[in-house]
Amino acid sequence: MALYLLLLMLTACAATPQDLSGQMFTFPQETNSAHVRLTTSRQVLSAVTVCFRSFSDLRSRDITLFSLSTPSAANDFAIFKLAATDVFEMWIRNTLMNFIMQDYKLNTWHSICSTWDSGSGLFQMWLDGQPSSRRFMSAGSNISGPIIIVLGQDQDSHGGGFDIAQSFVGMMSDVHMWDHVLSPCEIQNYVHHLNFPPGNVLNWNELEFQIIGRVLTEDKQKIETCY
Ligand SMILES: *[C@@H]1O[C@H](CO)[C@@H](O)[C@H](O)[C@H]1NC(C)=O
Repeated sequence: MALYLLLLMLTACAATPQDLSGQMFTFPQETNSAHVRLTTSRQVLSAVTVCFRSFSDLRSRDITLFSLSTPSAANDFAIFKLAATDVFEMWIRNTLMNFIMQDYKLNTWHSICSTWDSGSGLFQMWLDGQPSSRRFMSAGSNISGPIIIVLGQDQDSHGGGFDIAQSFVGMMSDVHMWDHVLSPCEIQNYVHHLNFPPGNVLNWNELEFQIIGRVLTEDKQKIETCY
């Protein structure tokens, strides 16, 4: 039993970084448990950029896209797509704001980036390279860990409190996170798969992660290269 527990702990800790270039996480089912936990050694962030691509067909309810929690804030940096067309919900340090982002389509890969700086408190969202207005969200305090980052479920408490009605169903890819605000040109380069500095908090090309439940790592489907 002790040996089994030790093996279990070693498996859980042995998150060797993987290069997920050309791959995606598939979340094929609504559950209140399946998720991917992303590991970072960073514990204090005074600025953030998060970029990822996602694909989903859910429109009848809200879905979680990115959930970063700390002991002091379950929604320390969290992104949702609401059921309402074009509306994204952003949480920073437990403060909420909604953003209207036009041209969000179902069953389409979208590039989504969010930037925030704790000095100015300014937040901005980018959908497929189109920016939102720059809005004041929360200033003067850093995100400070232990940081837990989850894909596929929303953390209503630090590392847990998952709700099936907010779970993500679809595919996600190219998740990167930086400890600073990317320039508009760097964001365009990310969107267009050109050269950009890989994330220094989360890097899709050296990702440390743990899959819990039915989430698959698969090659991205490239239907445009069939003929
Ligand atoms: C936030 O972090 C930065 C950089 O680590 C540091 O200089 C600053 O003092 C921190 N701010 C607060 C309010 O703790």
